[in-house]
Amino acid sequence: MIFIHQKPFVPYLSAEAIQGAVDRIASQVTKDYVSEPPILVGVLNGAFMFFSDLVKKIDLQIEVSFVKMASYSGTSSSGEVNVHLGVGDQISGRHVIIVEDIVDTGKSMAVIRDLVLQKKPKSIAIASLLHKPDALLEPVEITYLGFSISNKFVVGYGLDFDGLGRNMPEIFQLKD
Ligand code: IMP
Ligand code: MG
Repeated sequence: MIFIHQKPFVPYLSAEAIQGAVDRIASQVTKDYVSEPPILVGVLNGAFMFFSDLVKKIDLQIEVSFVKMASYSGTSSSGEVNVHLGVGDQISGRHVIIVEDIVDTGKSMAVIRDLVLQKKPKSIAIASLLHKPDALLEPVEITYLGFSISNKFVVGYGLDFDGLGRNMPEIFQLKD
């Protein structure tokens, strides 16, 4: 057990399990886009670690771009989604894969997906390491999913609890 901001967290997904999911998604993306490499759009800050591991394992000449969002404060979603950095024009006419750490309520992803769609991409897909189906409020189709998890707060591998925990190579879950 570990403590972050005085709250107890227990090991949940090992670094090995996460890398297994990253390998699986990278192989699938490599197969699916062999005819025309995509541009991957990472959602900062949470997706930085998943994004970095994923792009290294995709065996195609891809491009990268980022959007910056914020919606969480503490251990439950504030519901409000702010965009600090929009998507650039380079995604127009391109196959786009949005890369997220987690789809929780789906509100952030719905906003990002609509931002991307405004730039008229050739196609759009969503890759998310984690998904909490029980928390979903906005319908979001995840094309490439690492793990479907229960509706409990998690931290590590890019995900934070009030700024801490992002640099851990594995994922911990808040203890009941
Ligand atoms: P949504 O808009 O509710 O789907 O929230 C998505 C964003 O909230 C994600 O990109 C994460 O950054 C953050 N988030 C959601 N659930 C968790 C969690 O369990 N731990 C840490 N961050 C989370
Ligand atoms: Mg995020």
